[in-house]
Amino acid sequence: MAFNNIYKGKKILITGNTGFKGSWLTTWLLKMGAEIYGFSKDIPTTPSVFETLSLAEKIHHHFGDIRDKEALNNYIQQIKPDFIFHLAAQAIVSASYTHPFDTVTTNVTGTASLLESIRNISWECTCVLITSDKAYNNVEWIWGYREMDALGGKDIYSGSKGAAELIIRCYWHSFIKSMPNIKMGTARAGNVIGGGDWAKDRIVVDCVKAFSRQEIVEIRSPKATRPWQHVLEPLSGYLTLGQRLYEKQSQNGEAYNFGPRAEQTKTVFELVRDLAIQWGLEPDKTIRLTGNAPFEEATLLRLNCDKALAYLNWHSTLHYEQCVTMIAQWYKAFYLEENADLYNLTVKQIELYVKEAAKQQLMWTK
Ligand SMILES: NC(=O)c1ccc[n+]([C@@H]2O[C@H](COP(=O)([O-])OP(=O)(O)OC[C@H]3O[C@@H](n4cnc5c(N)ncnc54)[C@H](O)[C@@H]3O)[C@@H](O)[C@H]2O)c1
Repeated sequence: MAFNNIYKGKKILITGNTGFKGSWLTTWLLKMGAEIYGFSKDIPTTPSVFETLSLAEKIHHHFGDIRDKEALNNYIQQIKPDFIFHLAAQAIVSASYTHPFDTVTTNVTGTASLLESIRNISWECTCVLITSDKAYNNVEWIWGYREMDALGGKDIYSGSKGAAELIIRCYWHSFIKSMPNIKMGTARAGNVIGGGDWAKDRIVVDCVKAFSRQEIVEIRSPKATRPWQHVLEPLSGYLTLGQRLYEKQSQNGEAYNFGPRAEQTKTVFELVRDLAIQWGLEPDKTIRLTGNAPFEEATLLRLNCDKALAYLNWHSTLHYEQCVTMIAQWYKAFYLEENADLYNLTVKQIELYVKEAAKQQLMWTK
């Protein structure tokens, strides 16, 4: 059992359910006995984790655009969910340079559209809205960002995530705070990695594609550091926040950071090297360093997660090595094993993660 079994039998709407995080969240919630409803614009990649895990057969799914306020509202009114996890977004930094307007409307207007629908909810509903660590104005200092630090940024993606947070805050104070039936929280997490991500310009994806074709991996920013974390880490944070809000044990209307351990801040080169080793390859013969990145991206952004520890008893679980091992295992099964049961493997990795967290006596595992 985990999360005090509160998700069992609940109707849960996940926006962005066909994406990377949405598919892992769906699998975890299905395993806990929830009934899942999805609202997404498309299946964002080929291959896709949503299709690989055959999730369309296991859930109720609706294709729609989050910016279509009426369609979203109708869907929510029709299913009357007990929980909403909002993950629908234009989530790719490089795409924000090619499609800035689409990024702004999806991430900002799309969030406002959901908030409008939440205003119309007349039943008890717990809402967890996911933004990003990029919501913070990155001044490239060495300290982790706290929930009270300034939002915003110089690039479109950061601006869209910062703006989404501001809009959430305004809706909260103007309307939702006075709705006794709604519990709401915001979650900010950083770069996630894990099996089944095939999004454009994500380093793990470039690596495993190259490894599977026996090609060389080119790294444009080998020294860039990222606070890598397995996708299950922020998901355990989102589910913990949902549980605490539902049980009225967390402050309503608050934002929380969910980040990895400090030791997980590794360079892009270190991650690629370690994945190559796990794949059974020699890094020297597999990796080529090519230097400059083609678009401006801030080099350091770390989250301070003291608030999640203090109020939710949450901290991340996996060590960097465990994280890399799980990722290599998932993609090797996909690319190298004929007839591999990826749904089963994904469930097994979730079970392993819960077991590791239970060893560390994290409250959510009860
Ligand atoms: N993956 C990461 O490293 C990372 C890091 C920080 C924050 N996040 C945030 O987590 C959330 C999920 O990220 P992900 O990696 O799963 O993204 P993803 O790109 O894999 O999936 C995006 C999902 O949103 C849906 N979507 C996009 N535009 C839509 C629209 N206009 N209407 C309805 N649905 C739409 C897609 O169909 C898909 O289901 C996003 O808010 C993202 O910004 C992700």
